Amino acid sequence: MRLGILGSGKGSNLGAILRAIQAGELDATVVVAISDVPGAGILDLASDAGIPTHTLVEPRYKSRLSAEVEAELVSVLQAAEVDLVVLAGYMRVVKAPLLEAFPRRVINIHPSLLPDFRGREAWRQALEAGVEKTGCTVHYVDAGVDTGEILAQAEVPLIPGDTPESLHARIQAAEHHLYPSVIRQLAKENR
Ligand code: GRF
Repeated sequence: MRLGILGSGKGSNLGAILRAIQAGELDATVVVAISDVPGAGILDLASDAGIPTHTLVEPRYKSRLSAEVEAELVSVLQAAEVDLVVLAGYMRVVKAPLLEAFPRRVINIHPSLLPDFRGREAWRQALEAGVEKTGCTVHYVDAGVDTGEILAQAEVPLIPGDTPESLHARIQAAEHHLYPSVIRQLAKENR
């Protein structure tokens, strides 16, 4: 299965996916990595692994994409013959052009047990709400924000003395297991 990765940050989930491929646990190839943030860590990580990268900057909007940039994104993914679009810390809402080009072929990882704590800094929201456990969710992407059909979840308990940083770090460790395992399942079904 040919993966196209979209991210805005450091790319630790891309790192986990690449390690799973390297270890022979995931039968997939990352064929392109795309970021909206010039110089994002995820681009360096991809380049170091020999993966072609693209930076598609959105000059007009903060959290969504203009029609032109989204069309460019679709054409880069199509040119790379991507089977599955994997959002890994991509801080933009994607819309119909991408979703229609890749029906049930766009997934995201979110740092909470959805439907709880949608949106930004979900780990901080969980800590402030005083819940006993939170976690992470892999879901299909639809036109809403963190609303698509859930594929899998992993729980992470809160522990006394947790800070936003300590909780986020434990959630990320759970993400690094969950995301490759969900992609492995989708790759099997894709065969
Ligand atoms: C992850 O915590 C993910 O849940 C959220 O963005 C973060 C991406 O981290 N959507 P990284 O860039 O993969 O390290």
